[in-house]
This record gives sequence, C-alpha cells and structure tokens, in this order.
Amino acid sequence: MKISQLAVELKNTTKRYNDLVAVNNLNLNIKQGEIFGLLGPNGSGKSTTLKMLMGLIVPTAGSVNVLGIDVQQNPVEVKRLVGYVPESPSIYEFLTGIEYLDFIGDIYGMSADEKQQRITEYLKALQLEGREGDMINSYSDGMKKKIALISAFIHKPKLLILDEPLNALDPRSARIVKDILAGLKAQGVTTIITTHVLEIAQALSDQIAIMYKGNLLALGNMEELQQKASLPGSDLEDIFLKLTGTEDLKAVVEALVK
Ligand SMILES: Nc1ncnc2c1ncn2[C@@H]1O[C@H](COP(=O)(O)OP(=O)(O)OP(=O)(O)O)[C@@H](O)[C@H]1O
Ligand SMILES: [Mg+2]
Repeated sequence: MKISQLAVELKNTTKRYNDLVAVNNLNLNIKQGEIFGLLGPNGSGKSTTLKMLMGLIVPTAGSVNVLGIDVQQNPVEVKRLVGYVPESPSIYEFLTGIEYLDFIGDIYGMSADEKQQRITEYLKALQLEGREGDMINSYSDGMKKKIALISAFIHKPKLLILDEPLNALDPRSARIVKDILAGLKAQGVTTIITTHVLEIAQALSDQIAIMYKGNLLALGNMEELQQKASLPGSDLEDIFLKLTGTEDLKAVVEALVK
C-alpha cells in the first residue's frame, strides 16, 4: 500500500443521477488524524459523497482515493481499512446483537480473543450490556444505531466514515460516542462525520465542509468559516444558515403560523 499523508483525496469528483447532479466536481483533501465534519442541507450530496468514498457507488467523473488507495481499483482493501456507518444501516435483524457483532468480527478476520475483548468493551461503553443476547429486531432505534457503530469500530479502522451516527442516540450515548471519536483521533484515526446537529459538528471537527446542491460552499476551520461568512465570532449554526441562504427563517415561520 502506498503511504499517503491524506486520508481522503477527491479530484473533480462528480456523481450524476440522470439530469440531477448529486455531487458536482468536488475537490477535497482530508488529512490523516482529522475529524472532518461534512455538513449541508437535505439532499446536498453528503451521503452520495460518503458512498463514493466507500466504493458503493461509482463516480460519473473524477477520482476517489482513500488512504492512498484508488477506491475503484481496490474496493475491498478500502473496506478492510475503513469503518462505515451508513445513514440507514441494514443490520440482520434476526440475529442477536452478539451474533451480529461476532459475524462482523469474522468478516474482518479478527481472532476470537480480540473479537470478544473489543465487543465486550464496546457493549459496555454504549450501555448495551445485558441486551446483547436479544434479537436485533427487538431493539430500539438507538440500540440498533449503537450496534451499527460498534460494527464500524471493532476492527480498529484507520478511517471512520460516519453518516449521521448520532441520530437516535440519547444525550449520554452521543457524549460517549463523541468521547470515543476524540480518543480515536488521539491514536491517529481519521473520522468523517455528517450530522445536522451543528453544535456537535462545531465541537468535534478540525475541518468543516459545507455542501449545498452538490457543490462545496465552504471549507475550513471555524475561524475560516466565520471569515467566509463575514460573521466573526459567531457559531456554526449562524454561519451555516447564512451560507446556505436560509437565514431569513423568521419571515417563513411567521407566514406559516399567522
Ligand atoms: N439512488 C439515487 N437515485 C437518484 N437520485 C439520488 C439517489 N441517491 C441520491 N439521489 C439524489 O442525490 C441528491 C443528494 O442526495 P444525498 O443522499 O447525497 O443527500 P444528503 O446530503 O445526504 O441529504 P440528507 O441530509 O437528507 O441525508 C438528492 O437530490 C437525492 O435525491
Ligand atoms: Mg444523507
């Protein structure tokens, strides 16, 4: 494997669905060890971008390089090194939590000891202990999300691609996941995360990209985004609303409720 400084390199990457340009000529470099927040309104192209990183959909144009690997040339190698939580994870509902995680550990070729140790740790951390023997179809939404997260974490991936991983999690669990991501960052793991919870994105991210209708609107750390939006000192919510052109929400809401 080529040693690369970059965890992700997108060059002129485009994805079209017939006439719809879901991702438009995206150029993006994500450094190893960063937490990268990928933000944007519904339908702006975030999940499409993450699916191209995973090799799950093929770009219409441009290249996708992950951890120095060309995703189209070596999709299996990329999947081995990456942990992915899709926005709607498809988990085998008729397995128990422990059976499912054990199965995922086998897919990644983990030893029995390693599997058991890491699954036990994560079940405990995410407060699923005692429920691992129940069938997944009896879990709540948040519990299913936790299983999807654990299945992305267990094989010690170098890169985490998390599509709205905190949806459905209670505040304590969301906090635990945030702390896990910060701990993994300290070990050099790169994380790309989409979320509509802008406070979390602001607190976690080293770099933030804001997409809008398939285009990259803004990219940088908080200070750079504040400058770009001409909103010095403001929080990510105000920046996001200004840059995505929806700051005049008050008038819309007033018209609705009058
Ligand atoms: N399989 C598909 N076929 C046709 N159009 C698609 C397909 N998948 C996504 N799109 C379109 O591509 C655009 C980007 O979708 P995408 O799922 O990437 O948005 P998103 O930023 O993840 O939004 P959200 O915040 O709602 O999750 C949307 O207009 C969507 O309708
Ligand atoms: Mg999405």
